[in-house]
Amino acid sequence: MSVITVKSEHQYDVVIGKSWLNELIATLSQYSRVAIFYSTAQEDFIPKFSVDADVHYFPLPDGEAAKSSQTIAKMWDWMGAAGFTRSDVVVGIGGGTITDVTGFLSASWMRGVDWIAVPTTLAGMVDASIGGKTGINSEYGKNLIGAFHSPKKVIIDSTWLKSLPNRDIAAGLAEVIKTGFIADASILEMMKSFEIDRDRENTQVLDQLIEKSVAVKARVVSADFKESYEREALNYGHTLGHAIERYSKYSLRHGEAISIGLVFAAHLSAVHCGLSASDVSLHEELLSKIGLPTTFDRSAFAQLHALMGIDKKTRGNSLRFVGLSAIGKTQRIEGLNVEELSSVYEKISQ
Ligand SMILES: NC(=O)c1ccc[n+]([C@@H]2O[C@H](COP(=O)([O-])OP(=O)(O)OC[C@H]3O[C@@H](n4cnc5c(N)ncnc54)[C@H](O)[C@@H]3O)[C@@H](O)[C@H]2O)c1
Ligand SMILES: [Zn+2]
Repeated sequence: MSVITVKSEHQYDVVIGKSWLNELIATLSQYSRVAIFYSTAQEDFIPKFSVDADVHYFPLPDGEAAKSSQTIAKMWDWMGAAGFTRSDVVVGIGGGTITDVTGFLSASWMRGVDWIAVPTTLAGMVDASIGGKTGINSEYGKNLIGAFHSPKKVIIDSTWLKSLPNRDIAAGLAEVIKTGFIADASILEMMKSFEIDRDRENTQVLDQLIEKSVAVKARVVSADFKESYEREALNYGHTLGHAIERYSKYSLRHGEAISIGLVFAAHLSAVHCGLSASDVSLHEELLSKIGLPTTFDRSAFAQLHALMGIDKKTRGNSLRFVGLSAIGKTQRIEGLNVEELSSVYEKISQ
């Protein structure tokens, strides 16, 4: 078992590798009323446990439907009807969608109540549940409504991943690989020998990869909670990745779109930051080995270029990319014209 401490608006622990239920029950002992939110798709895996507190169970719609204004309005009603006060606690058990909306509920209910995240997908464990960003989607785009509100604890138990499809394991690993490139080469060493079919249930390997990834995100977020310069490194591969995600109308998983974005960012880095050809190939090798896409339609460039321009992470008029000069060394790339971008896009398109 390992514990990683995150410093944000308050300090909290990410506990990795212990029975989630035992850890949750122990954490709940200080509260008198608990709201547990989970997806209807995980209903069978959510035991009705007994603790001294008064526990309420609230099923949410699966996937992005959980992150809607209709769902949050229902959650506020439930909290009101059950008499939740500021000293009570909210728990989100599920993928990133469930922890995002549960976190936002706890940010907004009575201007902030405690919450606990129990991520059940790899993307949730290494990314969504860490860093304090909570929120829902608007009709006008994903994650447009939200708040920074860190949980009191994050409980990670990789035995959840046994039932997760390979596609979602691979999508989560895209963020793990990204983390390796921006800050921890030992992740890349582990990924060189990782075989998805052989290792997907090896909790020892998964726990190590999760721990290393969480440690990097915790370090970055602790240094820069509200996303200015340092936190930007976590967006490696995301400028094009987000555009591809939107272009695909979310038919690609976030991690799949980021996989393509990472290969693009690597090629961009080779041209503008001096990243070596072998490090560019390593991106392609590690991502494709676990079945992630690394190329995209040649004809999509003009639309992707326009979509990158309206990404909410773009500031001012110029597109901004995170680049790498070497593994673990990020730098900002700005001010490229459309010809420079399209010539790099050419390298990842087919
Ligand atoms: N807050 C942040 O910093 C942050 C960071 C990254 C992503 N996100 C958000 O996270 C969401 C994506 O998260 P996700 O990929 O976990 O998607 P998700 O929550 O939609 O889960 C994907 C699918 O996996 C299923 N599932 C969950 N746990 C399972 C398990 N143990 N076994 C089998 N199936 C399981 C779910 O029912 C769902 O159908 C997006 O909305 C994204 O915006 C937030
Ligand atoms: Zn991401």
